[in-house]
Amino acid sequence: MSVRKDNYTVDIGDMRIKYKDKSETFTEDNLISKEPIGQFKAWFEEVCNTPQILEPNAMFLATATRDGVPSLRAVLLKGFGTEGFKFYTNYDSRKGHELAENPHVALTFYWEALRRSVRIEGIAKKTSAEDSDRYFQSRPYANQIGSMSSKQSSVIASRQTLIVKERELLAKFPEGQVKRPDCWGGYLVVPHVVEFWQGQSDRLHDRIRFRRTKPNEKIDNILVHKGENGWVYERLSP
Ligand SMILES: Cc1cc2nc3c(=O)[nH]c(=O)nc-3n(C[C@H](O)[C@H](O)[C@H](O)COP(=O)(O)O)c2cc1C
Repeated sequence: MSVRKDNYTVDIGDMRIKYKDKSETFTEDNLISKEPIGQFKAWFEEVCNTPQILEPNAMFLATATRDGVPSLRAVLLKGFGTEGFKFYTNYDSRKGHELAENPHVALTFYWEALRRSVRIEGIAKKTSAEDSDRYFQSRPYANQIGSMSSKQSSVIASRQTLIVKERELLAKFPEGQVKRPDCWGGYLVVPHVVEFWQGQSDRLHDRIRFRRTKPNEKIDNILVHKGENGWVYERLSP
């Protein structure tokens, strides 16, 4: 294959793997819970018991500016429950600035080995200082120093800048004496939409979406099912 470096095209049109076959569909009868947090917990536990999935809690977080210009990156889920989905980061990062002006977020998990994905939409709010302190103090020493060494998302001259800063902080703050920087902490994403997707080889994928109802919404009993804890669920076309 000869490739001209200034202008080339790679055709990967036939790149695809098998998803589930018709004997393994995801139907409303398979729901473990009629609200999305219990359902997420059930799927998450399965993922954690799937050795091919090395980081079950890796997810993609989309944020946007006030004008709606999006950006997307991976972060780690660090807790979830009826109150929402939690992650930790630098409040002065690009995502932190975007969240300060626009709290709307979307999260996506893709668990390839299970052919499953979960999409969440919601509003992000900072967790309490106590929560952030607790998590920061639970992190390994090297991670504490590492996140302090980096003004996340800023442009730096070279890797050496980080090494110098890390060395300085290691000398200044011995293990056990690292205080959480004010610019670092948690966000809780309070969901209003949670979709469970399972892929089928024939592309008739299963999609079951939980959502909060709109004020005064008239529920169509054929399409929309009453769930628990104020949620409804419905099937989406793939
Ligand atoms: C698997 C994975 C997990 C990550 N987890 C986090 C995380 O929990 N928090 C974080 O701030 N960055 C995390 N990162 C780095 C982010 O993807 C990103 O580079 C960083 O947060 C800066 O993003 P921003 O400039 O858009 O704010 C992770 C990256 C990967 C690939």
